[in-house]
Amino acid sequence: MFRIENLTFAYNAGRRALDGVSLEIRPGEWWAVLGANGSGKSTLARHLNGLLLPQEGRVYVAGREVREYDDMRELRRLVGLVFQNPDNQIVGNSVEEDVAFGLENLGVPREEMRRRITEVLGEVGLAGWEQADPAVLSGGQKQRLAIAGALAMRPQALILDEATAMLDPAGAAEVLRLLAELHRQGLTIVMITHNMSEVTAADKAAVLAGGRLEFCGTPQEVFGAGELLRRCHLELPPAAALGEMLGLPGCMDLDALLAALTALKDGETA
Ligand SMILES: Nc1ncnc2c1ncn2[C@@H]1O[C@H](COP(=O)(O)OP(=O)(O)OP(=O)(O)O)[C@@H](O)[C@H]1O
Ligand SMILES: [Mg+2]
Repeated sequence: MFRIENLTFAYNAGRRALDGVSLEIRPGEWWAVLGANGSGKSTLARHLNGLLLPQEGRVYVAGREVREYDDMRELRRLVGLVFQNPDNQIVGNSVEEDVAFGLENLGVPREEMRRRITEVLGEVGLAGWEQADPAVLSGGQKQRLAIAGALAMRPQALILDEATAMLDPAGAAEVLRLLAELHRQGLTIVMITHNMSEVTAADKAAVLAGGRLEFCGTPQEVFGAGELLRRCHLELPPAAALGEMLGLPGCMDLDALLAALTALKDGETA
């Protein structure tokens, strides 16, 4: 779905926001991209749908180099991008108008538009909210509406740039549940976060620090790399940190820690 080769980018002559990043994301995979503030996460996201073009290196989307897309709208349709602030992404006066906006820009016929709006609002759990003023939605609902807008374009991939950062725990959980369902249906997902506990659901995780890709692996491998994470100014969630102290690295949550402790105890009593 994405092939990034030696990608380097600097906004101005100064420091590199991305520095020699290479990464391959296969169709249907769910990636978490982790990194502290200023590590280059959003800059990477903007390269995945052509909002930024590489200064050095190459980015391929769906097998085609981003520079070769004659129509950037085609690339934006293929790769949906959802941002952090739910309020900045709403353009319509009603929920259905908001989803319709992108489709109108693409010139999708009325009938087809109706069909798609109904379909995607159902998918994100906003059926029945068609006429509602988006301002009355909760944060989690607003982010699901933003996702519906992207899904209406029938994308192959969805990039979420800290899309849960401004939500309360319930809203964040709603969005993560929706992502799990979309993942199950085969959508490629790239979820940018600095919340380690959101990584557990992903297939793979990448860690950025100072514009460089420091680590790639399974979530469990990332949770086992406490020392590296601290160097990247990231913190292990409590269960993983406790596990590490006890010599049981890689525990992604309390259940995993309990299982590891039980195995340890059984080993000692055996
Ligand atoms: N529009 C811009 N103009 C100039 N410099 C920028 C711009 N956007 C980002 N930068 C710089 O590029 C580097 C990477 O920024 P980026 O926004 O990609 O990081 P991030 O990991 O998304 O950070 P955050 O967690 O704060 O969102 C930082 O040093 C940042 O100051
Ligand atoms: Mg960012």
